[in-house]
Amino acid sequence: MVLLPLLCLLPVLVFSTSTLNPTIKPRVTIEKDGSISVYVHNEVSVQSVDIQVTILKPFQLYNFVADFNKVTSEWWIKTPVNNLEDVESFELAVFYYYHVENNHQPQRKMYTETILVNQETGLQPQPHQISKREVTVLFDDFNGNQLNMNNWMYEVTASGGGTFTADRFGENFLQNGKLDVKGQWGSCTASFNNGCYRTGSNIPPIMSSKIISKVKISHGRVEVLAKIPVGDWIWPGIWLLPPDGGTGVYGGWPNSGEIDIMESRGNKNLKDVQGHIQGVKQTLSTIHFGNGRPNHRQHGHWKLKTDGSTWADDYHLYAVDWTQDHIKCTVDGNPVLDWKTPPEGYWKHENFSGNNLWAKGGPDAPFDGQYDLILNVAVGGTGGYFPDGWNNGADGKPWKDSSSTAMSDFWNNRSKWQHTWHGDDVAMKVKYVKMVQYN
Ligand SMILES: *[C@@H]1O[C@H](CO)[C@@H](O)[C@H](O)[C@H]1NC(C)=O
Ligand SMILES: *[C@@H]1O[C@H](CO)[C@@H](O)[C@H](O)[C@H]1NC(C)=O
Repeated sequence: MVLLPLLCLLPVLVFSTSTLNPTIKPRVTIEKDGSISVYVHNEVSVQSVDIQVTILKPFQLYNFVADFNKVTSEWWIKTPVNNLEDVESFELAVFYYYHVENNHQPQRKMYTETILVNQETGLQPQPHQISKREVTVLFDDFNGNQLNMNNWMYEVTASGGGTFTADRFGENFLQNGKLDVKGQWGSCTASFNNGCYRTGSNIPPIMSSKIISKVKISHGRVEVLAKIPVGDWIWPGIWLLPPDGGTGVYGGWPNSGEIDIMESRGNKNLKDVQGHIQGVKQTLSTIHFGNGRPNHRQHGHWKLKTDGSTWADDYHLYAVDWTQDHIKCTVDGNPVLDWKTPPEGYWKHENFSGNNLWAKGGPDAPFDGQYDLILNVAVGGTGGYFPDGWNNGADGKPWKDSSSTAMSDFWNNRSKWQHTWHGDDVAMKVKYVKMVQYN
């Protein structure tokens, strides 16, 4: 059995895990001066608490070690003064570490809650009056040793969506230069693009993963706290797509839409033909739709990291707020794509002629159907996401989009990119996922 020497390259999704679950429910008060205090009742097993308060709009992130108040038997932190004027609600995330007695590793756990702020009555929080119009349909902080299959499906396929990846959550998969997904992995979830069987140099050189939420939403909020990958030609995605690869009420992709909350390119030195930075300092948010593939339309925007770091250096909150009126994608609460539904509808807005595919839908059709949340990491591809003309510094682009052997070119030229891949830095790490349906 010849294993192609590819298995060292695993841009996979890595989830935070912990095994014990003391229950905490923080008590929150907001002082007149705008500071926020968070109290957590003591649990015997909690040895130390690291309270991280995430506030959306305005976004600020604080990371404190809490003090223990013996009188009230609570762990307690107080944030510096915030400007909470016009803030209707904020998201509170409490991370805490604790040790159990017998020399276990410290465990990490997280609690989140939406706190509504009442502007009339002196900024008191209204933690138990969360609007009935919002229902959290999925919350997963990957607090277990394996993926919760009640929440997720995963792809078993070599199709890679046209990239140089094959998707399977874990496990080795290559044998004898053949990749028979049906035989070697069991069931195959996507047969297009040779997804179930490949041979020789057409074998995707990278194993990756794609997971798909079992719940769907239509108008709602999605939040993913993630650390994105770094490494040349790595393409992570956090996105919403109608079920079965984009087939929604208005037909196959792109007729029923797609919302990309976060896409990036893991390259550190990539620039487009105009010399603009296009690598891991950029996060992109894009909507896709259209009237058949030839009439594919997209509207996107990006956010450039300007403080010298990259988006891959730390965890960031990638989110979308999707209503009939708008699709707002944010990172850490700051807008990336702030898109308003065209008042005349998408058909007119794009000057499409003929029968309006979306006539029977709502005012924001095709963005009014049920979508899955997808988290995945892909690599390369020939569809134009990494254009040939862009500048990648000394290493260049190790394949041409027009090449009939693009996958094997990529692998044969690995000396040009492999040195930019370091351990788990090529993985997308996800701390939590939250999907909230608006009713
Ligand atoms: C649609 O047509 C109008 C009027 O000709 C034009 O201003 C507009 O840019 C067009 N929109 C698109 C998306 O092509
Ligand atoms: C990459 O490797 C192939 C050999 O598989 C070679 O033909 C090709 O020119 C190389 N470079 C690029 C930029 O494609």
